[in-house]
Amino acid sequence: MEKGIKIRKIRAADVSEIVAIQESILQKKVSKKWVQMAEGHLKKQEALGFVALKGGQVVGFIIGEIKWEGFGLEQSGWIQVVGVHPRQMGVGIGRILAERLFSFFKKEGIRDIHTAVRWDAGDMLSFFKAIGFDRSPFINLRKHLD
Ligand SMILES: CC(C)(COP(=O)(O)OP(=O)(O)OC[C@H]1O[C@@H](n2cnc3c(N)ncnc32)[C@H](O)[C@@H]1OP(=O)(O)O)[C@@H](O)C(=O)NCCC(=O)NCCS
Repeated sequence: MEKGIKIRKIRAADVSEIVAIQESILQKKVSKKWVQMAEGHLKKQEALGFVALKGGQVVGFIIGEIKWEGFGLEQSGWIQVVGVHPRQMGVGIGRILAERLFSFFKKEGIRDIHTAVRWDAGDMLSFFKAIGFDRSPFINLRKHLD
């Protein structure tokens, strides 16, 4: 990985830099709901996630969650969202953030990690495949309410 990158636990105060990264990835403002989701996670007493810093600035983030029960699983780790600033993509930051989260899950005794990716997000699929993900035994279902 590129030199000068530091990884630390995520903090509530990181939310504005995380939103800025997400907006530069998407090239548009993120929704209020997205900001609330990020804030909600970071306000939890044991906020679960990591940020990558370069020159003291947040350049990447990963937010995860432990589900104690659900989907017929007793305990599972989930990646909610991961993002790297477009200027810093492709130098190993996403991988190192994911690996830190995996180590955290492992220490908690969690062996299975899940995430969901849009079917047409080829870059995300390639990233997850590169860091060891494969198809899960689940299928996603959706119902739209008018
Ligand atoms: C996907 C993302 C998190 C990966 O982080 P990153 O720091 O760029 O990735 P890394 O440099 O750590 O790459 C790790 C591995 O994934 C692969 N990978 C990463 N991005 C890839 C891409 N766009 N296409 C193909 N492979 C990719 C790399 O080849 C690498 O494999 P290797 O280690 O075997 O060489 C980051 O690029 C990102 O935030 N992308 C934008 C995602 C997006 O569009 N989000 C909006 C919807 S939520």
